[in-house]
Amino acid sequence: MPGDLGQRTGGPMKRPLGIAVLGLGWMGQAHSRSARRIPMHFPDRSYDPRLVVCADPDPGRRAAASDDFGFSRVTDDWRSAVTADDVDVVFVTAPNMLHLPMIEAACAAGKAVFSEKPIGGTPDHALRAWRMAQEAGVPTGVGYCYLWSPLVLHARHLIQSGALGEIVHYKGCFLSMYGSDPLGLLTWRFMMDQAGYGVSSDILSHSVALAQFLIGEVSEVVGMARTTIPQRPLPSGNASHYGTGSPSDPVGEVENEDFASMLCSFDNGATGTFEASRTIVGPESRNAFEVYGTRGSLSWDHERINELRYYSGSDPTNSGYTTIFGGDRFPFHGAFVPGKANSIGFEDLVTIQDHSFLESLATGEQFSPGFDEAVAVVGVQQALIDSWASRSWQRVSDLRSNP
Ligand SMILES: NC(=O)c1ccc[n+]([C@@H]2O[C@H](COP(=O)([O-])OP(=O)(O)OC[C@H]3O[C@@H](n4cnc5c(N)ncnc54)[C@H](O)[C@@H]3O)[C@@H](O)[C@H]2O)c1
Repeated sequence: MPGDLGQRTGGPMKRPLGIAVLGLGWMGQAHSRSARRIPMHFPDRSYDPRLVVCADPDPGRRAAASDDFGFSRVTDDWRSAVTADDVDVVFVTAPNMLHLPMIEAACAAGKAVFSEKPIGGTPDHALRAWRMAQEAGVPTGVGYCYLWSPLVLHARHLIQSGALGEIVHYKGCFLSMYGSDPLGLLTWRFMMDQAGYGVSSDILSHSVALAQFLIGEVSEVVGMARTTIPQRPLPSGNASHYGTGSPSDPVGEVENEDFASMLCSFDNGATGTFEASRTIVGPESRNAFEVYGTRGSLSWDHERINELRYYSGSDPTNSGYTTIFGGDRFPFHGAFVPGKANSIGFEDLVTIQDHSFLESLATGEQFSPGFDEAVAVVGVQQALIDSWASRSWQRVSDLRSNP
C-alpha cells in the first residue's frame, strides 16, 4: 500500500493500530506523546501506532489533540470514540470513576484496552472491569509505569537471581506533595464520585504493584488512613488539577484519604511496611522501595530514577551501598540514550510500557501487567480498607474467585 510505513525500508509489514485516547490530561498527553515517539525509539516494532481519535469534554484539550498531538479526529463523546471502526485499542486516561464505564464499553466493542491505574476507583469497580474484560476476552494492560524502569527491571533480575539471598523485608512508599497546599483546589482526585478512594487507589497502588512485581504476593495487612486536609477551596469552571484558590473562597469537603499506611506479610514469609501520602511536605514524588535479603539489599527512588542502590553482604571488603547508574546495559534504556549514566525520565517509562503493550497486541503475546495483576493489587487495597473498619489484620483474598 503506497505510503504504508511498513514498506518504507523494505522490512516486514507493520500492523497499523488505531488508538483512541479518552481524556487528554496529564496521562492522556503522556500516552499520546508515546504513540508519536515510539516509531523513533523502537524502529524494529511490529506495529504502527496511529492516533485516531481523542475524546475530552474540554474544547481546549480537543483543539490541542488535533493541532498539536496530531489526532485524526476529536470528540466530546467518548462512547463514539470507543466504537469507531478504525480504533483497535482504547487508552483510558480519564478520572478514575469513569474507568469502569469506559472499560465496559471498550470490552463490549471488542477493543483492546489499556487503562491507567486504578482500573476502577473502588475495588468493586475494578473487579467489575476485570470481569468484563475476562468475558469479552480482550487484551488488557494497566498503567503501572514504574515497573518498566530499566533499573527496576534490573532490581527484579538481581532479586530473582538470588543476589540478595532470601527476601526478608520490603519497605514501599509513595510520598507526594501534589495535595500538600491546603489552598489546592477540591478537584476530582479528592471526590468519591470521581476518584473513588484517595491515595490507596491513586499512589499506594503503584507501591503495591511494585512490591508484588519484585518479591511476590501480599497475604495479610493491617493499616490506617487519614484525611489530613479535610476541606479545600471549590474550583470554578475548568480549573486545573494543580490550581490553587484563595483563603476567602468557598470550601468543600475532601471525601477520601490523603494518607494510608500498612504493615503486611508476603506469601513468601517476608514482612513489609508501606506508606502513601499526597499532603506531605518535602518528598515531591518519592515512589521508593527498599528490599532486604539475607545476603544483600537494594533501594530505588523515582526521585533518583537513574540510580539503583545495592548492598552486597557477600563481599567481605564491602562497606556501604554501591550506586548503579542507569545506562544502555539495562533493558530498554538504550532505546532513548546511549552510554552509561545518561538519564531517562518518567515519560520514557510510559513509552517503554506503551510500546510493550502495543507490541504484544501485534504479536499476540500475553502482556503483563494487565487486569489480572491490577486485581491482585486491588485485593490488597480491599483488605486494607477492611482493616480500617475492623482495626485488625485482614487476609488478602483473590477477588477473582469472588462470585
Ligand atoms: N501511571 C501514572 O503514573 C499516573 C500518573 C497520573 C495519573 N494517572 C492516572 O491517569 C488517570 C488520569 O489522571 P490525570 O492526572 O491525567 O488527570 P487529569 O485531570 O490531568 O486529566 C483528566 C482528563 O480527563 C478528561 N475528562 C474528564 N471527563 C471526561 C469524559 N467524560 N470523557 C473524556 N475525558 C474526560 C478531563 O477533561 C482531563 O483532560 C487517572 O486514572 C490517574 O490515576 C496515572
